[in-house]
Amino acid sequence: MKPFSQAILHWFAEYGRDLPWRRTRDPYAVWLSEIILQQTRVAQGTAYWQRFMEAFPSVEALAAAPEDEVLRLWAGLGYYSRARNLHAAAKQVVALGGFPRTLEGIRALKGVGDYTAAAIGSICFDLPAPVVDGNVYRVLARHFGIATPVGTTQAKKEFTTLAGQLLPEGEASAFNQGMMDFGALQCTPARPGCLTCPLQASCQAYRTGRVQLLPVKKAPVKVQERRFSYIYLRCEGHTAIRRRGPGDIWQGLYEPLMDEFVPDTSEAKLRLLRQGVKHQLTHRTLICDFYLWESDSRPALPEGYFWIKETELDRYAKPRLVEMLLEAVAKASGAKTP
Ligand code: ADE
Ligand code: SF4
Repeated sequence: MKPFSQAILHWFAEYGRDLPWRRTRDPYAVWLSEIILQQTRVAQGTAYWQRFMEAFPSVEALAAAPEDEVLRLWAGLGYYSRARNLHAAAKQVVALGGFPRTLEGIRALKGVGDYTAAAIGSICFDLPAPVVDGNVYRVLARHFGIATPVGTTQAKKEFTTLAGQLLPEGEASAFNQGMMDFGALQCTPARPGCLTCPLQASCQAYRTGRVQLLPVKKAPVKVQERRFSYIYLRCEGHTAIRRRGPGDIWQGLYEPLMDEFVPDTSEAKLRLLRQGVKHQLTHRTLICDFYLWESDSRPALPEGYFWIKETELDRYAKPRLVEMLLEAVAKASGAKTP
């Protein structure tokens, strides 16, 4: 075994994180954790993982759940296609009669790419597949002094090959998780613990004073801005929402009226609650104005919208931005009641 790999395994045995999905090798539990952690930090993801495991203790339970229920539990994590894929993959697993045990089989599940397949396969079954996430890039780039910009095809090839060469036989689970934790706890982005690092003596970046310069990042893509308004309509204890369709963000989630439907303000008593609320998505910044429109009679709704009781809002999965609108509405209403 390479000294580097030996050091990572030793370090992991001593300092690896005690995460709830590491107390099992149930592939369902591990798969769920990997899907949640795809774009979410461990600190935030853990609570979601626990809620999911409580609501759906088995892949059969998840497969049998209504999609709305899955989306509701997912609410706040973002990237809702992940939740829909998760649900679809659970049905795939049930149809297969059990969780696949090969990389190809795992990779064939909806929402599972190369990275996630390697993570699940190595963690549950010790399949010899290197896992290369942001933490692993950083550790390898620094320790081996590699300046290839991360996020490029070239880097993906180079780092995956290197991680594969370092993978110790029969220890893929501990090594891969050790690399993730080492990057998350020891070789951290801003203030790595070089002084206490077991790899310091062999670390190229440390030796040459380039720890802060590695890994090299590609220039970021510019994020777009999108401006719109949400109008919370209140009419005798009822409000209007619609379910978002495919081909845009938040598919399958529910939202109130948007400014495609702007009523005549003077007549409609439209009240501005908050202006310019910013909400960050990966490639887009949403900037939204929140309005409350209280009306004594029900206006005709645009296509796709329907009336519900305000007390029934809880039953609908909503994007975080809509939750913020509802908080603003509650605040405005609370202030009004004696
Ligand atoms: N991030 C993604 N998968 C992880 C895992 N298994 N352990 C720690 N962090 C992770
Ligand atoms: Fe990372 Fe510093 Fe250790 Fe090198 S010496 S691997 S930069 S923590």
